[in-house]
Amino acid sequence: MAIIEISNASRIFGFGDAATIALDDVAINIEKGEFLAIMGPSGSGKTTLMNTIGLLDRPTHGTYKLEGRDVAKMRVNRRAKMRRDNIGFVFQSFNLLPRVSIIENVSLPLLYKGMGQTKRLKRAAAVLEQVGLSEREYFYPHQLSGGELQRAAIARALVNNPSIIIADEPTGNLDSESTRVVMELLGEVHKMGNTILMVTHNPILTRYASRIIYMRDGSIVYDEASAVGELPGRVERALQAVRSSREEERLAGVSDYIRAIPQNKTPARKSQRIKKQTTRTRKKRS
Ligand SMILES: Nc1ncnc2c1ncn2[C@@H]1O[C@H](COP(=O)(O)OP(=O)(O)OP(=O)(O)O)[C@@H](O)[C@H]1O
Ligand SMILES: [Mg+2]
Repeated sequence: MAIIEISNASRIFGFGDAATIALDDVAINIEKGEFLAIMGPSGSGKTTLMNTIGLLDRPTHGTYKLEGRDVAKMRVNRRAKMRRDNIGFVFQSFNLLPRVSIIENVSLPLLYKGMGQTKRLKRAAAVLEQVGLSEREYFYPHQLSGGELQRAAIARALVNNPSIIIADEPTGNLDSESTRVVMELLGEVHKMGNTILMVTHNPILTRYASRIIYMRDGSIVYDEASAVGELPGRVERALQAVRSSREEERLAGVSDYIRAIPQNKTPARKSQRIKKQTTRTRKKRS
């Protein structure tokens, strides 16, 4: 049985002329244990879909079943409980409380659950060990590197033993080495049987996923299964196209340096003129 079943889901923000359709009739089923990578241009609805799945938002239309239960119309308190018990969030900006030590940050979701302090800290220490941060337990967020902060945020997401981890651009603020460490960690969390939904703008990271969806204008336009550790066919083809055009440019003598020079306005006007001329010639011909 799919852990997430969404059908005909739309999310519209605003009214009338100012309405934005952030999700446009989306249908998706996600099985337990999948590692889903969500890609797509800015504004295509990735975060809206994640917030809907994560019960931070509701679809305006359509149905959503989480673990077989209809959650689209569930009352606020029950939704909050569902969210707390089933979902762990990891955000691009870490979202740790600045004045609270790392171990307390990680144990916070257990406080909301009503767990006693000793048990809470013991559990938080165990997940911090899992993410390799035992030596940073009593540090404060400002004393940690970006990669360490994100590992702490992953520990916080894991502390409740959620069935689903939602990570919205988890490596968006990280350098390449921290990205690697965080992705390896998410890969391990996936191997332990967790379901992971990760939004990313970095095609290389789809290597860690077992399925990739692409969104455009609020719709899922592509959905592809892929072996973990390999790039999905579509991503591989797109990267090859980029590589070969780079290679062509290199052979033609266009260096990165030349490409980095900002264009001034004259060539742009010129190219507009050229465009106009070509359309005129085209018109003449037809
Ligand atoms: N609270 C809101 N009120 C009004 N419009 C919103 C709101 N949240 C999102 N939108 C709009 O919905 C559309 C989808 O936004 P969303 O944040 O889901 O995009 P995204 O794919 O996550 O983009 P990015 O890659 O930039 O994070 C956008 O046009 C956005 O402006
Ligand atoms: Mg987003």
